[in-house]
Amino acid sequence: MTLQIKSFDEYKDVYKRSVEDPEGFWAEQASTFTWRRKWDKTLEWNFREPNVKWFAGGKLNITENCLDRHLDTRGGQVAILFEPNRPEAPVQKYTYKELHAAVCKTANALKANGVGKGDRVCFYMPMVPELAIGVLACARIGAVHSVVFAGFSAQALADRIIDAQCKMVICSDYNDRGAKSIPVKEVVDQAMNMGCESVETVLVHKNTGGPADMPDARYKWWHDEVDGQSAICEAEEMDAEDMLFILYTSGSTGKPKGVVHTCGGFMVYTAYSFKNVFQYQDGDIYWCTADIGWITGHSYIVYGPLLAGATTLMFEGVPTYPDAGRFWAVCEKHKVNQFYTAPTAIRALMAQGDKWTEGYDLSSIKVLGSVGEPINEEAWEWYYHRIGKGNAPIVDTWWQTETGGILISGLGGLSPMKPAHAGYPLPGIQPCLVDSNGALLEGNDVEGLLCMKFPWPSMLRTTYGDHERCRQTYFAAFQDMYFTGDGARRDKNGMYRIIGRVDDVINVSGHRMGTAEVENAINEHPKVIESAVVGYPHEIKGQGIYAYVIVSGPVGDEEAFRKEILAVVTKEIGPIAKPDKIQIVSGLPKTRSGKIMRRILRKVASGDTSNLGDVSTLLNPEVVDEIKTGALAD
Ligand code: WT7
Repeated sequence: MTLQIKSFDEYKDVYKRSVEDPEGFWAEQASTFTWRRKWDKTLEWNFREPNVKWFAGGKLNITENCLDRHLDTRGGQVAILFEPNRPEAPVQKYTYKELHAAVCKTANALKANGVGKGDRVCFYMPMVPELAIGVLACARIGAVHSVVFAGFSAQALADRIIDAQCKMVICSDYNDRGAKSIPVKEVVDQAMNMGCESVETVLVHKNTGGPADMPDARYKWWHDEVDGQSAICEAEEMDAEDMLFILYTSGSTGKPKGVVHTCGGFMVYTAYSFKNVFQYQDGDIYWCTADIGWITGHSYIVYGPLLAGATTLMFEGVPTYPDAGRFWAVCEKHKVNQFYTAPTAIRALMAQGDKWTEGYDLSSIKVLGSVGEPINEEAWEWYYHRIGKGNAPIVDTWWQTETGGILISGLGGLSPMKPAHAGYPLPGIQPCLVDSNGALLEGNDVEGLLCMKFPWPSMLRTTYGDHERCRQTYFAAFQDMYFTGDGARRDKNGMYRIIGRVDDVINVSGHRMGTAEVENAINEHPKVIESAVVGYPHEIKGQGIYAYVIVSGPVGDEEAFRKEILAVVTKEIGPIAKPDKIQIVSGLPKTRSGKIMRRILRKVASGDTSNLGDVSTLLNPEVVDEIKTGALAD
């Protein structure tokens, strides 16, 4: 049984033990799982290369731990509870036994199509059970999944397929989302014409059954391939350090990178953190509203909950369909016990008015979770009082795609809470704050750059195909530390408050984006010479996207030009990256070495032009006035 801490005093004891003897602590956690062979060495690490190995030599298959292990004890219990987009459509339930059979059949279909251990499989699918089943089927046979959020454009999808050299792509025909039907397969069809030569098979799941043609012989229907397969599939034996999945995420430079997670450590950490943060009890109904296209969905819709033998609710729809009460209607309908969502969703629903929360019985809710961006106090209070009725603790969970699991968070109901503070590190996690020179900031009531000084089992191992990039991005800034890219404050009681990114990464509606990525997309417009993108505070999205654009010659109708920019960004990345504001400028403030002074651009974008500091050393101080004058207000 996975450790479940029961009081704050116990937390303090366990934390102490985890720091004094990390290997002993993690070996103990790992031993609660089913291993085919025990590991040789609990931990081997250095942050210089970096080289991190947990439980090396240990043999396992994560799906045996998610599924087979539960068959005797809870085979008839619902594993995945699927709530479709349309409230009147029937709920689907997969018991552990049924999920096991579905995963095995799908795994056999993958094998029959030439997919084996180590091969990469890309998923581009909406939130339907087959996405979770497909991902687990990969894990069953040792194939590496790379899920791409189905809101990304064909170009972004193709980039990811090519980078990982995927052998297979699995998609749906359409996505039933709110009042819209989105042609998912069409995007894949376009991507296939963008140089995805590694792809041998495109497996299409018939979701809505709308019109669909198969462009070439690589395309096959999911049902034709899966339905006739045997429901028995021996799990592939994996080393703890074999790759489990790749997930692409944005950084401050260049194209998104493929964060690599491995089997053993990811398994141990997601189950452990799930049980403790959400204080999940047998029989509870747990709901995380994220999409499986992001890490939250990987760790806390699929793997963590299933490893813990939980009932995990999967929701196909959106928070505002058919109306802004949908989340609460679903909570009432399924008597949800733990509810986990993002601040941006909370703020959006809050803005619709309290009336949408009224009339629902939300008394089943025991823990409320928040993830993805700092939760402001107003949203925190609303969530706590309106939704939790002051009875359900909020866990503000801080983590990242790279961390694989929640690192800093309250443990539901046990830890002290403070709005906008993620709180204390989980046992086994050793955060620290440093100043920009890398000097450790000791004691409390300090603010600095958030780092980790010791490895944890679910940390990233590399960035796919480019280990040097991994070293540069996370391990080069400060010696012997993993640098998160976030700034944080440790208050007088030692609770962490995450302030936000200190690099050129912005967080828009909980979606992480590199400003360079958006700039590169904007620059594809033939009239754009140069652009600079910054984030600015946005009431609902957390951060909005503000773009400064230098154009070659007159653009004519400015509104039409702005629309063209939005279209280019949608084509290159997807609608989530569309700038909220586009200001045409004649130049960008640059230092004498040619570096854009983003500090000035950020200030202007946030509507604060009062104190821009000394601009006299700029190469072109005159553009600052022009930028200030032309700034776009709300
Ligand atoms: C970045 C990671 C972790 C799953 C979703 C996002 C920000 C995340 C919090 C929080 C303040 C947070 C950080 C982090 N972030 N959780 N509870 N409070 N900020 O994963 O896309 O990899 O983004 O999200 O800035 O670095 P991601």
